[in-house]
Amino acid sequence: MRPLQLACPSCQSPLTVVDADRQRCPACDVTYRRDAGIWRLLALGREDGFRKFVEHYETVRVAEGRCVQDPDRLRALPFRDVSRRRPYEWSMRARSFESLLRHVVSPLERERNGQLRIVDLGSGLGWLAYRLALRGHLVAAVDLVTNDFDGLGAHRRYDCAFDSLQAEFDRLPFPGGGLDLAIYNAAFHYAADYVVTLREALRVLGPDGRVVIMDSPLYRDSSSGAAMVREREDRFERQYGFRSDDIDAEGFVTYDRLATIARTLGIVWELFEPWYGVRWWLKPHVARLRGSREPARFKLIVGRRLRAT
Ligand SMILES: C[S@@+](CC[C@H](N)C(=O)[O-])C[C@H]1O[C@@H](n2cnc3c(N)ncnc32)[C@H](O)[C@@H]1O
Repeated sequence: MRPLQLACPSCQSPLTVVDADRQRCPACDVTYRRDAGIWRLLALGREDGFRKFVEHYETVRVAEGRCVQDPDRLRALPFRDVSRRRPYEWSMRARSFESLLRHVVSPLERERNGQLRIVDLGSGLGWLAYRLALRGHLVAAVDLVTNDFDGLGAHRRYDCAFDSLQAEFDRLPFPGGGLDLAIYNAAFHYAADYVVTLREALRVLGPDGRVVIMDSPLYRDSSSGAAMVREREDRFERQYGFRSDDIDAEGFVTYDRLATIARTLGIVWELFEPWYGVRWWLKPHVARLRGSREPARFKLIVGRRLRAT
């Protein structure tokens, strides 16, 4: 199978290879480069708009102690949090990943009988891209953040290769129709407009491709999600002096929002609930007894185009 074909993030024309570290858009006459193993594929003029977001995001992640530089620690994710700083969080991420394998990746592997073309959207330090590359798939990790402690730069510490692309959700650097699977891994809720973002994912997927939203907060009532966002912004303001990551994100998902998206884009959703343990299962019941707000659920949300009948 050929490597993943890249496309211009501005006009979507397939890029032509200049050499190992340069590809060119013949339509826009722009050359895109690979620096330190990361393809820089933000459309001209887009980088400035994300600068503040990246700065604030990195500030928070460093303060929260989320940097991972040790190769053994990276390669153990999501199954072992070698640092032991967030064992509960990573045990949940591992359950989500197992659910992804069971309900989406393994069935697609059987259906397509071989290598899949996958994009890990909002990949961070790329643990998911690595895990899927280990299974023999062609994987691209896409993110805005390029540092080597929590962003695309971490790719060098893995022992199985995947492509690292600095690009944005709404201007994916792939031609139409070539991918099997697009996965937002704890990242979909950063999108500014879910319909715009998913329309772009559908563009790059083949007719029977799947889009997966995992580990994004899901609520029944949008006021619960809005309250969660307010609580987080208040905390950021106290701790860091700014209210948000400076991206105009929707911030959470609701069942109603999923239904509207499905109608607008002509997709069907299937939801799976990984088993995160009794403590997690009890959370909504405890919240109701205490009269506190509805806690987030994290479901595996799998979308595919409605088939024409
Ligand atoms: C919470 S992190 C999740 C990282 C990783 N997937 C994980 O599970 O550890 C969300 C990631 O989404 C990325 N992101 C947010 N908005 C984005 C956008 N518009 N385009 C590309 N990446 C984006 C952020 O830079 C960040 O790395």
